[in-house]
Amino acid sequence: DWIMGDYIEEAVAKIREQVGDEEVILGLSGGVDSSVAAALIHRAIGDQLTCVFVDHGLLRLNEGDMVMDMFEGKLHAKVVRVDASELFLGELAGVTDPEQKRKIIGRLFVDVFKSEAAKLKAATAGSKGATFLAQGTIYPDVIESGGAKSKKAVTIKSHHNVGGLPEQLGLKLLEPLRDLFKDEVRELGVALGLPRGMVYRHPFPGPGLGVRILGEVKKEYADLLRRADAIFIEELNNWIDEKSGKSWYDLTSQAFTVFLPVKSVGVMGDGRTYDYVVALRAVQTSDFMTADWAELPYGLLKRVSNRIINEVRGINRVTYDVSSKPPATIEWE
Ligand code: XMP
Repeated sequence: DWIMGDYIEEAVAKIREQVGDEEVILGLSGGVDSSVAAALIHRAIGDQLTCVFVDHGLLRLNEGDMVMDMFEGKLHAKVVRVDASELFLGELAGVTDPEQKRKIIGRLFVDVFKSEAAKLKAATAGSKGATFLAQGTIYPDVIESGGAKSKKAVTIKSHHNVGGLPEQLGLKLLEPLRDLFKDEVRELGVALGLPRGMVYRHPFPGPGLGVRILGEVKKEYADLLRRADAIFIEELNNWIDEKSGKSWYDLTSQAFTVFLPVKSVGVMGDGRTYDYVVALRAVQTSDFMTADWAELPYGLLKRVSNRIINEVRGINRVTYDVSSKPPATIEWE
């Protein structure tokens, strides 16, 4: 709209002025904030921006292709896709402790990003390479990192983010979304031409499926989980609540599937099965600090359960998580 158009023009001018003729790299995750930051910066400086998209093998079904289609295919931005799934899965082999898993994923992410930045620099011999690191930091992140949260005595979960990366890389920071709230970031994303589905997507944790596969992470588990989760999300999008006219995807703040590495007995046709279990998780919340489990319609749960069990060989039981936060957290690890 009109006002957002003005905002974009101003933001573009500011980015051009700050960057000049230098180069920028940005870690693209496919999440709302980094996507909107990438689209805005690309609008401002085009090919002076290089996005680095690290695929850690713990993304959702087709997520990597979708990110590439959008940013490389439609926006014609420079994107380096790094398939690091073997590295991540290799380092995670045999590790079951949730905090240890989070730390490994966070550390590898920084390592991979740093080595890609170095490669890009080497490839542009003669030029200085990137001198800016762009991040999709938004206003609530700015308050959070300086505020009460860091004083908390107990760490419930060590969050995976790329804090400290600019210093380690010796780069200047470019954070064009620093003054915006989430809603404003979404509006900006739509105004920049990003699809609504991308801009209104539920949050996805940095460690990805790594914290949704309980205990040891294996490729086999991730593959099963990806397919089950895609069915859940598809049905949430398709199931429209009559009263509000909204889909159950839009009526929930976050919804996903969790892989439980235990087997239970089932019967299919005239055969016995002995396969894995998944849990569906769907919550409603305004701030993610507390959350209620969502009262999804039984018909929706029934359909999701039938489809997962029929379509994903290897899973023969589906459960629904009826725990609120607190005392449970939203993610299981
Ligand atoms: P919990 O599980 O603590 O999650 O109730 C609250 C919100 O934070 C998300 N989450 C993360 N986001 N990196 C992120 O960027 C992380 O390491 C991480 N861990 C949890 C979670 O998905 C929920 O939205």
